Amino acid sequence: MTVLVLGAGLIGGLTAQLLAQRGDPVVMADVRAGAAPQGVQRVTCDVTDQAALKALMQAHGVRDVVHTAAWLSTAIRQDPLKGIGVNIMGTANVLECARTLGLRRVVLASSTTVTYTGFAAHGPQPIEEDLPLHVISERPASIYAACKLAGEHLAHLYHDLYGVDAVSLRYAAVLGDLGNITSVPGRLLQTLVQAGQSGQVVQLDDPFLVWGGREEFVDARDCARANVCALDAPHPQQRVYHIADGQWHRLGDFVAAVRRLYPALQVTWPDQLTTGFAGFPHQRPAPSDHRQAQRELGFVCAHGLPDSIAHWASLAPAQTHIRP
Ligand SMILES: NC(=O)c1ccc[n+]([C@@H]2O[C@H](COP(=O)([O-])OP(=O)(O)OC[C@H]3O[C@@H](n4cnc5c(N)ncnc54)[C@H](O)[C@@H]3O)[C@@H](O)[C@H]2O)c1
Repeated sequence: MTVLVLGAGLIGGLTAQLLAQRGDPVVMADVRAGAAPQGVQRVTCDVTDQAALKALMQAHGVRDVVHTAAWLSTAIRQDPLKGIGVNIMGTANVLECARTLGLRRVVLASSTTVTYTGFAAHGPQPIEEDLPLHVISERPASIYAACKLAGEHLAHLYHDLYGVDAVSLRYAAVLGDLGNITSVPGRLLQTLVQAGQSGQVVQLDDPFLVWGGREEFVDARDCARANVCALDAPHPQQRVYHIADGQWHRLGDFVAAVRRLYPALQVTWPDQLTTGFAGFPHQRPAPSDHRQAQRELGFVCAHGLPDSIAHWASLAPAQTHIRP
């Protein structure tokens, strides 16, 4: 029975590759045409088109779905209505297909940004998935996070009301391939790698690319492995899991990890940073608690920040391109 990977971007592509390597029949669908890893069939499908999505699943005998198709935070801010359509209705369409076709399991890509507004009221203990959030005063700080939280709620409700086996994975800030950037962490790494390659001094003055305190990152290869673990987990109970390694890093640590590869790298950033990552007003008080992912999914990150930066920087094209 086939696994459908929705979204052929950074994490979707790596997930489809892992599944194909272990011999699973895999179809990968994206609204854009493009390449596919070896052993993976790529098709064009828009997740907002419920009828097309259902027909695709029926045609390929799909049993499991890993849903990574989305508009990321920068894109959704520029065109909120279209982004909300993809991120909320796309997810609702996947869950509805799971209900009506009786799929075995759905894995949804969520984000640790859903917890950011709880930071101010949180102590130094690891940030639990079941974080108390006041629905008004601690509401999501971005349309992106609101969509991710809505997706998690819908997944829980499709499980409670209809028995749909859906699991949400909250990835930390993801580091991956620098050839086709859509994410804030990708843009940060790309900016530093380009400065390292060119020898030019870089001034980090974009408030989205800097943070006060410490922030956590995860390698896209670990996200892909977490998706596969979530498909395989025998009894996921909590249904929402942090995908992170328990480490958190200052901006200076991040820059130092890039400087190990480019010793002449020169970077400046503001002395006083009062905001957190990606322009959020709250600074992280602790790393995310990732122990439940280990207990219930059997997943542990394999790549720490320096390893991740070294890997993706080594594959970076000399001239990378920022996709708007
Ligand atoms: N990259 C990060 O830092 C990060 C962090 C936390 C969570 N996430 C989540 O992980 C998932 C994967 O992220 P990524 O980094 O691989 O992003 P990506 O931008 O590389 O991939 C997303 C893919 O979705 C596709 N897509 C967009 N609209 C679509 C539609 N209507 N129908 C079908 N496909 C469509 C895009 O074409 C793209 O290929 C997303 O849900 C994202 O929100 C990412």
